[in-house]
Amino acid sequence: MSASRVPQQLDRRLALEMVRVTERAAVAAAVWRGRGDEQSAEEAATNAAYAELGHMPVSGRVVIGSGVEGEVAHLFIGESVGGGGDVVEIAADALEGATLCAKNMPGSMAVMVLAAPGSLLNAPPVYMDKVAIGPGYPQGIVSLAAKPEENVRALAEAKGVPASEITALVLDRPRHAGLIAAVRGVGASVKLITDGDVAGVIHTTNPRESGVDIYLGIGGAAEGVLAAAALRCMGGQMQGRLILDSEDKRTLAKRQGIRDFAKVYALEDMVAGDCLVAATGVTDGPLLQGVRLGRSVVETDTLLMRAATGTVRRIATQHRDLAKFGFDD
Ligand code: FBP
Repeated sequence: MSASRVPQQLDRRLALEMVRVTERAAVAAAVWRGRGDEQSAEEAATNAAYAELGHMPVSGRVVIGSGVEGEVAHLFIGESVGGGGDVVEIAADALEGATLCAKNMPGSMAVMVLAAPGSLLNAPPVYMDKVAIGPGYPQGIVSLAAKPEENVRALAEAKGVPASEITALVLDRPRHAGLIAAVRGVGASVKLITDGDVAGVIHTTNPRESGVDIYLGIGGAAEGVLAAAALRCMGGQMQGRLILDSEDKRTLAKRQGIRDFAKVYALEDMVAGDCLVAATGVTDGPLLQGVRLGRSVVETDTLLMRAATGTVRRIATQHRDLAKFGFDD
């Protein structure tokens, strides 16, 4: 094991190592596509990611993971991972959109963030209210202090289009009934997704392709931090506020060192330093192609991003050494 050191900027060579982690997690999850078993898919992806992380030359600490120690075997908050090396923080969702995978619906993926120490918001396992837009707009034009309809109007004005040409992406949940009505009330269009708001936020970075201008609404806090890391690389603006509406949730937050329960987190509060992000498709989706499980070749599709330079790579991999996935000949 090599001696640990604390990097200012992450070693870019770690990016390719990360791809191996999300690729392996995605392939493990893909075996469970359409089998109606979220838990097995999630466990398979998490165990695969953990095993591959063991080969990475990092001394990693899981800040955002699959759950708390004792409840999940691996990638729990606070777990030490990696084979030893640079000190890094890790946020991982080995299977983002487990239900999408279990139902073989579009958009599930394996996501991982590597960040400089002290960079990631120690988000408790609660919900987060979020607003996000892509790059190219004046800073601060959308905010959680504004009503959803005000954000839509401000974005339309900045884009130079009527509100009717704005599309907001929202998780299809009863809790969003008022939000959806308000956005439609100013003439904007609402695109609903059943799950997967990390990809939902990423869609705002490329409205021409995705047709999505703004992400609005409440999803997981962990997913908020993962999405914030992607925007740190691709550009864009985001705010998040933890939903701490019970004593239990406030206790969870306190345990994570959170004192200000009403704080609105900007992008830089959620991911303060350098980061690398990898996301590999499990099921086919608008962002990524899903895993192709062939008899002799397995194919994966990955987005790999680096905040220090804003580089975004698309990596199509053909895997022929299938033993590494535990597949027999
Ligand atoms: P999982 O990765 O845990 O399956 O989460 C899927 C997801 O849709 C997230 O993308 C989103 O942030 C969250 O669930 C929303 O939570 P809920 O389903 O409770 O509304």
